[in-house]
Amino acid sequence: WQYNELYRNQYHYSAAKNWLNDPNGLLYDDSTATYHMYYQYNPNGNGWGDMSWGHATSKDLTNWQEQPVAIPMLENQERMDFTFENTKGQFTDNGKDGKVRYWGQPCTDWVEKNAKKYIFSGSTVLDKENISGLGENTILAYYTSCFQIATRWNDGGDGGMGSWIGMSEVQEQHLAYSTDGGQTFKQFDGAKNAAENLAGTANQQSPKAIIPVTAISGLPGVDAKDFRDPKVVYDEEHKQWLMIVVAGQQALIFKSDNLIDWTYASAIQRQHDVGVGVWECPELIPMKVKDSDDIKWVLTMSVQDNAYASGSGMQYMVGDIDAQGVWTPATANTLANPNWLDYGEDFYAGVTFGNTGNRRIMLAWQSNWKWTGLQQTTPWYSNMTVPRELTLVADAAYDGGYKLVQAPVTELDLANGQDAIVPTTDKGTGALDTGLILTGDMNNANAAKVTNFKGTAYKIEAEFSWEATSKPSALGLYVRGTDNFERKLLVGYDLGSQLAYLNMLSTDDQDIQAPGRDHTNAFVPDAGHIKLTALVDESSIEIFVNDGEKTITQVFYFRPEKIGGSHVKTDNIGFYVEGGNDKKATVK
Ligand code: FRU
Repeated sequence: WQYNELYRNQYHYSAAKNWLNDPNGLLYDDSTATYHMYYQYNPNGNGWGDMSWGHATSKDLTNWQEQPVAIPMLENQERMDFTFENTKGQFTDNGKDGKVRYWGQPCTDWVEKNAKKYIFSGSTVLDKENISGLGENTILAYYTSCFQIATRWNDGGDGGMGSWIGMSEVQEQHLAYSTDGGQTFKQFDGAKNAAENLAGTANQQSPKAIIPVTAISGLPGVDAKDFRDPKVVYDEEHKQWLMIVVAGQQALIFKSDNLIDWTYASAIQRQHDVGVGVWECPELIPMKVKDSDDIKWVLTMSVQDNAYASGSGMQYMVGDIDAQGVWTPATANTLANPNWLDYGEDFYAGVTFGNTGNRRIMLAWQSNWKWTGLQQTTPWYSNMTVPRELTLVADAAYDGGYKLVQAPVTELDLANGQDAIVPTTDKGTGALDTGLILTGDMNNANAAKVTNFKGTAYKIEAEFSWEATSKPSALGLYVRGTDNFERKLLVGYDLGSQLAYLNMLSTDDQDIQAPGRDHTNAFVPDAGHIKLTALVDESSIEIFVNDGEKTITQVFYFRPEKIGGSHVKTDNIGFYVEGGNDKKATVK
């Protein structure tokens, strides 16, 4: 694969072939100076399935090298025994041959089934000091094992429907570990201790969990079938390891001293949009507040449905952690009114890298469970966002007094160089330097085209300002435009509604354009100026408004059949001002 197929992003990571979703186990290993990106991956197809941990490495967070699958799905023939003590009637043995049988009482039987154990999302820790007993600089991977078990349903007894065997899903937390710098992993069999695991006597096919379902079965309101996505972090202040895991509408915190034995500490109850979608991929991120020595614990959460734009999205809530492993929200409002981390539709399951000192670097799956099936790329499916550096900034306008600000990592600029882009008017009067004045042209949008740059993958930064007395109604950037800007994306600001927006209407991408998807926005108060930064790629756009105070992330496709049956170039950039008489805006 040349990575030059239609829609293949150029500086956003995608696997050479096949499906990927959540980033997992992001880690900087300073013993090898390597960034590791693991991710949900289907080695056998271009749709979700056979979930394993794919793997890529990088020295600079920008150029990634795909590696062999790090943690493959477990697959083995498993015999499951079951007993009906007091049943007479029928059951469907759908694990064995699907036939309906009739039994007197009592009865026992078994099913032999091909038991796939999926390796779901999770996190890694670099065990520098051999706290686990598995060796210095071992990489520990905490993940959710997801599998089906034979379950006895509906004991109808005499004369009724009877009982049958069905399959139900179990999710529990497992550990795998790597002693070769993160390339390959062995399963840690929780039934054994570290020495036995290292000695190789551990069961690699059916390893026991380190946090089995029974660990939560007594807790009120948790959901064992949605018990997943463990994220482990060190709490420097209280000298404890913490793991946060979701369980349906709750997040549970476990504590550990040795990274292997975990005890339940506390629960966080969801309050916003309870029951809509599930909570997924939680994280507790210790963050130094900018220009202060205060540490706050930011809780980030992926919400599978009903997010700000539509479908899946991410939220954040600021709080504190104590020595008991209890997270306390900053205000009574924090959980009821979480902040959105991104205002587009394609920023999901984001987590941060471990072991990056004071830097907090997040990347996310650039997709949405609601729409993802509509994308049609081949032979690969989906990509990651660029890594973003997070900063926690004091701001009284936000709940608890803090906002999370995001910026593309500076490594991106270093790796790719910075080309200056010079705008000019589209009337052909030649290139202007910076400081182009766009003067309103009565009823028509007044646009200027950039003449010294054409391209489809770049980063662009533009600052706009206007006079309070002569405001335009909207202004912004055209990116990915055709020559006459008949097709384009608009990255703009609507001064009336005070919304920064991405308008994808003219991609005419009916396949993916469910209502609302073509237009997303974020509230940004009119301050007389706005800075719009867009990271544009073949089928990805990430917008940072005012240096990342708000972000909007989307995928987009200019479908060939919608543009005269062949692919036209969408490699122009422009600036525009809309509305009113005698309005003007300045672009820097
Ligand atoms: C989030 C998620 C996780 C799960 C994984 C499975 O996108 O649903 O909760 O671990 O994907 O692939």
